[in-house]
Amino acid sequence: MTDYANLLLDLDADGILTVTVNRPAALNALNQATIEELARAVQYAIGTPAVRGVLLTGAGPKAFVAGADISEFSALTETTGHTLSTRGQHVFSRFESCSKPVIAAVNGFALGAGCELAMACHLRVAAENARFGQPEVNLGIIPGYGGTQRLTHLIGKGRALELLLTADMVNAAEAHRLGLVNHVVAPDQLIEFSKTLLKKILTKGPLAVGYVIDAANAALDPARRGYEVEATHFAACCVTEDFVEGPAAFLAKRPAVFQGK
Ligand code: COA
Repeated sequence: MTDYANLLLDLDADGILTVTVNRPAALNALNQATIEELARAVQYAIGTPAVRGVLLTGAGPKAFVAGADISEFSALTETTGHTLSTRGQHVFSRFESCSKPVIAAVNGFALGAGCELAMACHLRVAAENARFGQPEVNLGIIPGYGGTQRLTHLIGKGRALELLLTADMVNAAEAHRLGLVNHVVAPDQLIEFSKTLLKKILTKGPLAVGYVIDAANAALDPARRGYEVEATHFAACCVTEDFVEGPAAFLAKRPAVFQGK
């Protein structure tokens, strides 16, 4: 976990992997190297049994991620631009499809790719000083890491188009009102609150949690049949040890202890 130049990874005793984007001098802007490190980090989270959930945040008091790294934009061609967009979409989708819960702890600016990264996480907790926006049209470009799609899904087309077309930033309270974030907390409570939320999910049946994530993703994927996915996952749960433990614990009036089996 030490061979990252632009991320900090920390795995705690509860199985929470905190991934911190660590380029504070550039407000944690995502250059291509950082996108590749995020790809490695999410693969590590998926493939490491000791990791039970992921918290994603940014270094420093000012920014979660202030966008893609604008200094890398001038070299783009139609071909490399398409590659950059599809690669970023793929990496962010890995967070979204991760069967372990992923929470964005948004500690400041979440602009462009930063807003897109937060939206690829399963839940978002914002510090009161967080700011959200998709300012790409200010630069003569559009969001390329899923922003036009996920923002539309999360807050509805009319509200999404206003943010996408005006490039306006919204504060945390407005982001909450729009449904873009789940909670708004004081900056000094952000990590603790986010970890408490994650730990609550970690007490649930891990297989069921993963299936819920996948079924919710299927609801918004035109290539999949969401109700059929739900029924298939429901059926799979029926033959797990967790589904023996859950009802047994309920009837015995004790907390369930799930094994993820
Ligand atoms: N890419 C590259 N560098 C970035 C960046 C980005 N997306 N966002 C901020 N930075 C850099 C700045 O260039 C500056 O570097 P410098 O100190 O070497 O000059 C440093 O981070 C601090 O940013 P600064 O603009 O001085 O901070 P600010 O508090 O005045 O403004 C923002 C903060 C977020 C409003 C402003 O940085 C901004 O608008 N950033 C770009 C946001 C954006 O358009 N993102 C989408 C990109 S597609």
